[in-house]
Amino acid sequence: MYSRVMNLELIAIPIIHVLKHQNLFEGIEAHIFLNDKFIKLNYADESYQESLEKLSSKGMVHIYIAKTDFNNVMLQLQTRMANNKFYDPLTTEELRASTCNTVHELSKAYINRLGATPEVLEMMKDANQKMQKILDQSPGIFAFVKRFKATCSEEYLKISVTNLVLTMTLNKFPWKSHLIVQKSMMASLLCDITMNSKSFDALYHYQSQGGELDDDVARHPMLASEILNRKRDLIPSETITIIEQHHERPDGKGFPNGITTTRFNQLSAVFIVCQRFVDLLFKNHFDHKLHHEMIKELQKVYHGGHFDKAMDALISVVESAEST
Ligand SMILES: [Fe+2]
Repeated sequence: MYSRVMNLELIAIPIIHVLKHQNLFEGIEAHIFLNDKFIKLNYADESYQESLEKLSSKGMVHIYIAKTDFNNVMLQLQTRMANNKFYDPLTTEELRASTCNTVHELSKAYINRLGATPEVLEMMKDANQKMQKILDQSPGIFAFVKRFKATCSEEYLKISVTNLVLTMTLNKFPWKSHLIVQKSMMASLLCDITMNSKSFDALYHYQSQGGELDDDVARHPMLASEILNRKRDLIPSETITIIEQHHERPDGKGFPNGITTTRFNQLSAVFIVCQRFVDLLFKNHFDHKLHHEMIKELQKVYHGGHFDKAMDALISVVESAEST
């Protein structure tokens, strides 16, 4: 993801976010990684935007910028996230959602490269909270996804919808608390920090067609856990456990460790069924008529141990959403 070029420490930024928020990156020296080396982008012949659009159309996912420039971009984003700026009446809801998405992606890049810090985690959580508010004010989940799919990545919309379903499902348990909801939401923000758009494509292909997963994708729950474990005082242990288990299945056919029923706790089981249900919602384009089929599909895999109660709670959330 990074290397040193001429003593510069470079951090990978998804090109799509640079294109969406070009004014954040104006005047910044950018590099691309081509044929095993970093090459400085030259804007002599065409604009920043034209160069990046061309690279993106050729399948290039990231540009690389120096750590000092990156920190500067993060500071500017922090200012944009301040409530008075963020909720300025001239700011459109689309720009708000897109800014939250970019904060999330850049925080991921920061944590991957430099490790978690209280400030970056706070920015990620703040963006999530603001997205939850936007989702809360939307007429429904489908309306929310439809409205923001042009300005946000599918992965980020999935995180937001997962966090809503997760909160509602956890609310069905007598032991739920604000802190437990926060720790679980943090897991969905951080569980895929090492994944990028290409690795998500590979994962979706594996989920629908089976086959082999690349090592980086197959190990992403443990890679995220290793990065976060270096700052254990910042990340609750329940969050780490969920992250490590989020692609496991009670029948032992999950990954990366193929653990079985007895190794899951109730919180992980709730998180997993909610995240898989949201995957199915997106896959089936939020078709209400298919809810029953989706639940049946999940029940085939996710049963036994803590999964029975997790599924009961999720079913009750889906049923109450349908009756409103
Ligand atoms: Fe994942």
